[in-house]
Amino acid sequence: MPGEIRGDPQAGRKLAGQCRTCHGLDGYAKIPIAPHIGGEPAEYLAAQLRAFRDGTRTHEMMSVVAAALTDEQIDDLAAWYGAQVATATLEADPEDAPELCAGCHGVDGITEDAHTPNLAGEANIYIDTQLKAFRSGKRVHEVMTDIAADMTDEEIRAAADWYGAVKLEIAPPPGEDAPK
Ligand code: HEC
Ligand code: HEC
Repeated sequence: MPGEIRGDPQAGRKLAGQCRTCHGLDGYAKIPIAPHIGGEPAEYLAAQLRAFRDGTRTHEMMSVVAAALTDEQIDDLAAWYGAQVATATLEADPEDAPELCAGCHGVDGITEDAHTPNLAGEANIYIDTQLKAFRSGKRVHEVMTDIAADMTDEEIRAAADWYGAVKLEIAPPPGEDAPK
């Protein structure tokens, strides 16, 4: 996984008990509106938790969850979920991948950059909602705001369907058992 992990994954594993009903202990989401977070870059996860806590990103569930977390807990949770291993299986023709997105998010939705999220296997409705949030200004990011501003509903749906159709598996880090 790209980037540097500052937190303690084992401390994060204990805290993840608070997250499991929605994101699972390994970060494979249990409900369609919650994203898969296992194997995402730890930096990205920590930045999103801070954004929910600071109010720069808002969501009725996550704003409440993040408000209670300290900086150390955020780093530990990011380290735990970031240490899981995400594997994508692309069943479609890679030639058909959305060109504009693939440079950062990967053809199969697995990123190489510590500040960019994986999109592989996220529910298409989640991807659709986030792109519309960037487009409307509800969620703000220096790169994604401009990209989403130029997208039609149809282009948003096509990108969401492309990444949503990728098969995602999340496995424990090498040498560790699946968390129970
Ligand atoms: C009640 C369900 C629920 C619980 C509990 C919950 N989450 Fe979430 N989480 C969500 C939902 C829903 C979203 C999507 C928010 C949105 O649409 O912007 C989300 C989004 C996130 C994101 C952003 C992911 C991305 O790809 O941008 C992170 C990171 C995250 N949650 C981490 C956590 C952690 C860590 C915990 C435990 C401390 C936790 N969540 C607990 C429902 C939950
Ligand atoms: C130059 C790099 C770059 C390009 C090109 C790009 N993205 Fe992004 N994308 C990012 C970064 C960085 C973020 C994290 C934003 C944040 O921190 O809030 C992101 C976030 C997202 C998210 C939110 C995911 C989540 O888990 O909440 C979605 C959805 C998304 N991008 C879709 C797309 C689509 C679809 C395209 C093509 C039309 C695209 N992006 C093109 C860099 C890029």
